[in-house]
Amino acid sequence: MENAIVMSGIRPTGFLHLGNYFGAVKNYVKMQDEFTCYFMVADLHSLTTHPDTKELKNHVTRVLAEYIACGLDPDKAALYCQSHIRETAELYLYLNMLAYKGELEKTATFKEKVRQQPDNANAGLLTYPVLQAADIIIHRATLVPVGKDQEQHLEMARNFANRFNHRYGDVFPEPKAFNYGEQLIKVPSLDGTGKMSKSENQNATIYLADEDELIRKKVMKAKTDAGPTEPNSPKPDYIENIFLLMKLVSAEEVTAKFESDYNNCTIRYGDMKKQLAEDMVKFIAPIREKAEAIRNNHTLLREVMEKGAAKAGKSAVATMEIVRQAIGLKYY
Ligand code: TYM
Repeated sequence: MENAIVMSGIRPTGFLHLGNYFGAVKNYVKMQDEFTCYFMVADLHSLTTHPDTKELKNHVTRVLAEYIACGLDPDKAALYCQSHIRETAELYLYLNMLAYKGELEKTATFKEKVRQQPDNANAGLLTYPVLQAADIIIHRATLVPVGKDQEQHLEMARNFANRFNHRYGDVFPEPKAFNYGEQLIKVPSLDGTGKMSKSENQNATIYLADEDELIRKKVMKAKTDAGPTEPNSPKPDYIENIFLLMKLVSAEEVTAKFESDYNNCTIRYGDMKKQLAEDMVKFIAPIREKAEAIRNNHTLLREVMEKGAAKAGKSAVATMEIVRQAIGLKYY
């Protein structure tokens, strides 16, 4: 793991939320002190689902500002925009020759997106995991901090890297999904039905930009029931989710108290949600305020993007030299 190279990214398709934070960004922040890190804003990927680019600039600057507000340091990690590294598009082209229609069509995210946008089942959507693999292996990264929903994409990235090596010689190490905890995580939505998401389930998702009152309102609306009637009963999913969210933002003793109230059937969900809301407010307010200030500092954001692109570009250019040589695209 020592000297490992780390790469990850987030699509600028909406506001970042607690899922993005706990699934990805929290790990990025820790990793920047231990490894060589490349973290980007996946603007090209966003074009597969958001061809209208009116809001793109806004969203790209928001993600970058939120990265920094969460603790990412442009002097430690390269923070950049995917589209600024043109070499990625070239590697994507080569990898596309090694990716097969059948495996791409079977990808869960492809099937889901086609269901959501049947009139725009474009080739970019089909080859989405190929571009993601290019993002990662262009830096010859091995650790990829992501949430649980990205597991299949990482498996595909490994397959493409191995296939390239098999055909053209050993160029790429195997990238793996990474989390400091034991497993990749999935932050559930507050309504107990799915996960927090940038574009769906907005009333049940807590965004890093949410105002205090809105956070309170969303948390208080979370589904509960009359409480357990038998000691130590199993928790229904929607209650389990509230505990899971509490574990992310509240102190250990606080969660332990509500666990024990649950187990001896004295739990008051109203109190639990009030506590959870206050702990979320305490967690989010400083990030929101910092991000707001950074978002308005255009000079800083430009400097960060330029610096990140220079660092990431250097690494990409070096890899692509090796790639072209390995494929046999050098004629003199
Ligand atoms: P995206 O933009 O959907 O999500 C960004 C990161 O947040 C994680 N995440 C979650 N984790 C836990 N619980 C949730 N509810 C939750 N929602 C989102 C995601 O797992 C992800 O880590 N395809 C990627 C972007 C990408 C990328 C890459 C990632 C493009 N190239 C290269 C890694 C490496 C995506 O759509 O993430």
